[in-house]
Amino acid sequence: MNRGILLVGCGKMGSALLAGWLSRGIAASDIAIVEPNPVPDLPAGIRLFASAGGIPADFNPALVMLAVKPQVMDAVAPSYSVYAGKNACILSIAAGKTIATLDRLLGGGAAIVRAMPNTPAAVGAGITVCCANAAVTEDQRIFCSDLLEAVGEVAWIGDEGLIDAVTAVSGSGPAYVFWLAECLAAAGEKAGLDAALAARLAHATVSGSGLLMRQSPESPAQLRKNVTSPNGTTQAALDVLMAEDGLQPLMDRAVAAAARRSKELAG
Ligand SMILES: NC(=O)c1ccc[n+]([C@@H]2O[C@H](COP(=O)([O-])OP(=O)(O)OC[C@H]3O[C@@H](n4cnc5c(N)ncnc54)[C@H](OP(=O)(O)O)[C@@H]3O)[C@@H](O)[C@H]2O)c1
Repeated sequence: MNRGILLVGCGKMGSALLAGWLSRGIAASDIAIVEPNPVPDLPAGIRLFASAGGIPADFNPALVMLAVKPQVMDAVAPSYSVYAGKNACILSIAAGKTIATLDRLLGGGAAIVRAMPNTPAAVGAGITVCCANAAVTEDQRIFCSDLLEAVGEVAWIGDEGLIDAVTAVSGSGPAYVFWLAECLAAAGEKAGLDAALAARLAHATVSGSGLLMRQSPESPAQLRKNVTSPNGTTQAALDVLMAEDGLQPLMDRAVAAAARRSKELAG
């Protein structure tokens, strides 16, 4: 079976995916990359092309992964319509580029998967949500899942309209968590700690709690309850964070704003 992969764009996300594929044992000879910049530490056997024009005519990938910035997608995607026409699956991770837009750019009738990954993919702990059009076969879905699972979890949705909410929760979500670490450090400073110690405490607390949540079978709510003694210090803080005007309404507004912006960007 043809397992050839063409990776278009080997920046932050593309290189994280590439590292994941290689660590999962995907053969270098099955991978080709189009990237105008040098790719550091490129393993032997992977073919690198500076532009689509350099790809040999006899290279027919089973999957083309479009990992370029959304701003250049309109200019880049049409160069790959030739593979869409030969039944390759086109997998785009570009934020805001709808399946309909990609299909138009690829000349119509392409098998397209639109996916939204997130930055913890860089350490193999991402989550990617995918949506396929009707032309995508079951085998192609499985192939896409396999490739994306190399950098974390994968979920599928049937309704592309939900991608805006997904973007607002998991796509942009890592930034909210980093901001939480920054806020916790700033609050620690206000409570009298020096800046370096406050930053260290906040960093270790947020990353350690994330790891605990990842490794524990218990839900976030249960983990929270486990550290909250009645009338203790944690309870005192949670009374503020869980108040009617606490973190929940703020998070609701933040996620709604991101979803709105995602919709706007998709046009
Ligand atoms: N990073 C994230 O957290 C994240 C999350 C979800 C989705 N995404 C999506 O993932 C995609 C890639 O993001 P990224 O953060 O990896 O961006 P990035 O680091 O800028 O990587 C894109 C790479 O593509 C290269 N490129 C530009 N034009 C090209 C062309 N014609 N052919 C082949 N390669 C070309 C860029 O080179 P130049 O720098 O020279 O232009 C760059 O090296 C975006 O569409 C983004 O929406 C990213």
